[in-house]
Amino acid sequence: MCGIVACCGSDNIPQLLLNGLAHLEYRGYDSAGIAVIDNEEGRLRVVKRLRQSDRGMIDLLREAAAAEGIDEAISARAGIGHTRWATHGAPSVANAHPHLDCEGRIAVVHNGIIENHARLKAELVEEGHCFKSQTDTEVVIHLLEKYYDQADGDLVESVRRTVAQLSGSFALAILHLGHPDTIVVTRNDSPLVLGSYEYGSIAASDTPAIIGYTRDVSYLGNRDLAVLHGDGQIECYDPAGELYVPNIYHIEWDIEEAEKGGYPDFMLKEIFEQPQVVQNTLAGRFDAQAQRLQFDELPLSPADIAAIERVYIVACGTSYHAGLIAKNMIENAARLPVEVQVASEFRYHNPIINGNTLVIAITQSGETADTLEAVRMARQTGAHVIAVTNVVGSRITAEAQTSLFVKANIEIAVAATKSFLAQLVLLSLLALYLAQELGLLTKRKISKYYNEMCQLPAQIESLLAEESVSAVKAAAEACVHAHTALFIGRGVGASTCYEGALKLKEISYLHAEALSAGEIKHGTIALIDPDQGTPVVAVALQSATYDKMLANIQEVKARGARVIALATEGDEQITELVDHVVWLPPVREIISPITASVVLQLFARHIAVCLGRDVDQPRNLAKSVTVE
Ligand code: G6P
Repeated sequence: MCGIVACCGSDNIPQLLLNGLAHLEYRGYDSAGIAVIDNEEGRLRVVKRLRQSDRGMIDLLREAAAAEGIDEAISARAGIGHTRWATHGAPSVANAHPHLDCEGRIAVVHNGIIENHARLKAELVEEGHCFKSQTDTEVVIHLLEKYYDQADGDLVESVRRTVAQLSGSFALAILHLGHPDTIVVTRNDSPLVLGSYEYGSIAASDTPAIIGYTRDVSYLGNRDLAVLHGDGQIECYDPAGELYVPNIYHIEWDIEEAEKGGYPDFMLKEIFEQPQVVQNTLAGRFDAQAQRLQFDELPLSPADIAAIERVYIVACGTSYHAGLIAKNMIENAARLPVEVQVASEFRYHNPIINGNTLVIAITQSGETADTLEAVRMARQTGAHVIAVTNVVGSRITAEAQTSLFVKANIEIAVAATKSFLAQLVLLSLLALYLAQELGLLTKRKISKYYNEMCQLPAQIESLLAEESVSAVKAAAEACVHAHTALFIGRGVGASTCYEGALKLKEISYLHAEALSAGEIKHGTIALIDPDQGTPVVAVALQSATYDKMLANIQEVKARGARVIALATEGDEQITELVDHVVWLPPVREIISPITASVVLQLFARHIAVCLGRDVDQPRNLAKSVTVE
């Protein structure tokens, strides 16, 4: 989605903005722009460009800026930059940010949606303001212009008055010609991170944009406001206007993790990071001496856990699929009924929820608007609400009672891979923990299961070895020209398939559908076209339903499908029945999605690469969707 960078200080401001925007490219966007205060000429300088399919956007913007003299030679101490993902108004240079007021004194970049923009615009037009774009953002600038004059040039006060008029979500960075060494930022339900660095202060919508300058960062609360100064000072104010000293968080990962490091794309890099990510997520969760799993951050007493009647899992996209798999895990281990809901539906279906309900919100980014709304609604009911997220300081961490952090570190590719695997690991541990606290598993069993999970990093390594990757590639190449691909499995294997199909759709744009293998004969089997050899990916690992899976494979094979099976090493029976086999190490069925998903990620990526797709930034998608 949209990205913001803002900085002031004595550094090369245009370069800092452009480098910051380059680190936000992964979020998905259609246009970009920067504005700086040119102190020599005493005016705001703005450059904006539309994304072109054949050019790196930020390089294009860099060239355009240099051609207009907006480069290291410019005398500027403050600037703002933006990557836009269109919501109100088509992608165009006019709609790209930064936007300026009527007089060209104020520049603003905005993430989010101003929900009451239509009414505000009508009033401002009536008052004589001239709008130049179709964006909801532009009302902010004209409000600022109006209040700046009314507040006798008090920029902070004019921002306060403006923000008081806005409903919806926003992160704003504001530049004013009369304040050449200052930037004002504010936010509501849209992320913003701030920090001081050697030559000044900097803010951005996402950490990768500033991590090269500082790893000690702060986060603003909703409707807080911060004034960034060129000497590195940052003043933070709460919504009542009280000055406060923000908490500082140290970011553990560094800039190299936001670089490709020799891989052709971030997705492949992140797939290959999974053994380490799984290990990191397992670390510290088991007390070997006491033979107990530990989740000390959970706000649930043994009595609370014993009283849980029902678990709701709410999430979107890939995180929703992690929820489907977690349902199997929790129901199996802890014998608690689990309902999984897409977050955008949760609020509207009148969920049966009370103080004895545990709500688990899963969100990689911690910023997904639908999931945040579901959490707010759940909290009002008195349920226990915990978040599973990858991002420290993200919005969900302020909204949920407690956050459990997966240890995936920054994920750049839009299609989630390593964060998904980390979610699965954390949720398996949580399922076992609930079972432990409910007295359903002996210490010996807990210890055994945990030790089995500790084998996962090595097992994933084996799937990333050349032989295994080549088998996946061969299967993928045979499917490149398909019109549709079907993914079938049973039980936890079916849930794994949902994510496998989503991955393929997201990055290759092929149509894909996942379903329970037993269900295919009730309709979807009609899609199998013998002339096309419709690909059917079958998760057919050793399990209680293995024989039934073989029968389903035979059904599709008999109708001309090309079958790609994910099978357990040593399974000789399956080779006879299918066209391609990818071997997986034997693991307990309930955690098999953790290994099987790695193969499905590689499968989707290879098809996308063969089709020449932009694997890291697929069309129409954004890394985190901060609008409902
Ligand atoms: C977007 C992304 C998906 C992601 C979903 C949920 O739609 O494109 O890849 O799964 O958001 O994101 P979250 O950060 O809440 O896990």
